[in-house]
Amino acid sequence: MVKISPSILSADFTKLGQEIDTIKTADYLHFDVMDGVFVKNISIGLPVLQSVRKYTDMFLDVHLMITEPVKYIEEFAAAGADLIVVHAEADKPENIRKAIDLIKKCGKKAGIALKPATGAEILKDYIADLDLVLVMTVEPGFGGQKFMNDMMDKVSQVRKMITDGGYDCEVEVDGGINRETARISIDAGANVLVAGSSVINAKDRAGEIEALRCGM
Ligand code: DX5
Ligand code: ZN
Repeated sequence: MVKISPSILSADFTKLGQEIDTIKTADYLHFDVMDGVFVKNISIGLPVLQSVRKYTDMFLDVHLMITEPVKYIEEFAAAGADLIVVHAEADKPENIRKAIDLIKKCGKKAGIALKPATGAEILKDYIADLDLVLVMTVEPGFGGQKFMNDMMDKVSQVRKMITDGGYDCEVEVDGGINRETARISIDAGANVLVAGSSVINAKDRAGEIEALRCGM
């Protein structure tokens, strides 16, 4: 089943509750955390996540674009994340391992994200323990960028690793997803699609979510 995870990065934060109401037919809510160090942008963090958690029972898909994520796992778990995704490039491998173990210990789903330059092979030591792999289809940091078609081989490789190993793990893509690139991503093996500007800029957000989900 294809799932849609609208990113609230491009939403109007002065009326976040109303913004969330417009996307509540989606499967997940994608929450982008940026620290200005791992990526060249600063976005939202723990206090906003706590407020969102109080407001909605949607599944919160938290994408940590921060260095040394292991230091913050417990706080993001306590703030209400359902899934916590850390970047493979954000720390030494042993600390990424610790972050995954800690996410699980907190009773949350765990994911690893890969920047465009990072190959799928980095996943081999983690994949058996992951609930989701996020393949970035833009350089992380900003919404509204152009989808990188050449990431589709990586999506297929990740899907094959999961199928071959018999793992229960989702494959998510993030960046530049619209109706056309949604179809391309689904065909390559993705089953969770993050959509920021395509949903937020749509007049009929619920209709856009449905169109993306059906790969129309
Ligand atoms: C980018 C973020 C994305 C972003 C996607 O670093 O991780 O989740 O919000 O926005 P669009 O869909 O506009 O590319
Ligand atoms: Zn994201």
